[in-house]
Amino acid sequence: MENNISISPNISKEEKYKSILPQIKSLLEDETNSIANMSNICAALKYNMDGFFWVGFYFVQANELVVGPYQGPLACTRIKLYDGVCGASVKEKKTIIVDDVNKFPGHIACSSDSKSEIVIPILRNNEVFAVLDIDSDKYANFDNIDKIYLEKLADIIPAKAGI
Ligand code: SME
Repeated sequence: MENNISISPNISKEEKYKSILPQIKSLLEDETNSIANMSNICAALKYNMDGFFWVGFYFVQANELVVGPYQGPLACTRIKLYDGVCGASVKEKKTIIVDDVNKFPGHIACSSDSKSEIVIPILRNNEVFAVLDIDSDKYANFDNIDKIYLEKLADIIPAKAGI
């Protein structure tokens, strides 16, 4: 069966999120495999949102973050739990937006093409079990609009995640 996400061109970022979120929800609706769902989320975002250069998940495993499903260039496999932008998001249990990754102390550069970044923690039972990490090849590509809608997306993942 063919899965399709369609978004009108030339609409604002907020309109794109408003259009894509229900489509992603319905894509996940009948699927209980969390790896499949996370993989589809990565592809849906990477190929429909502007400047999304790398979209992926890191799972919290013991004292490390281990890369999960992603779309984009090869990335760091393991990150120390509280290192980098991803680690800061785990530690603070909140979304972190970085306009210029070169100015974020401790940023981990998996690709030199990455210029800005947003990391959203995914909580289950009030604990961060994964993060959604999105890198852009443009500076300051992420703002409060991304935060609002990506946090809505993060909210539906724990209910689906069997891991
Ligand atoms: N830049 C991230 C590491 C992961 S990659 O961007 C895919 C960080 O500083 O945590």
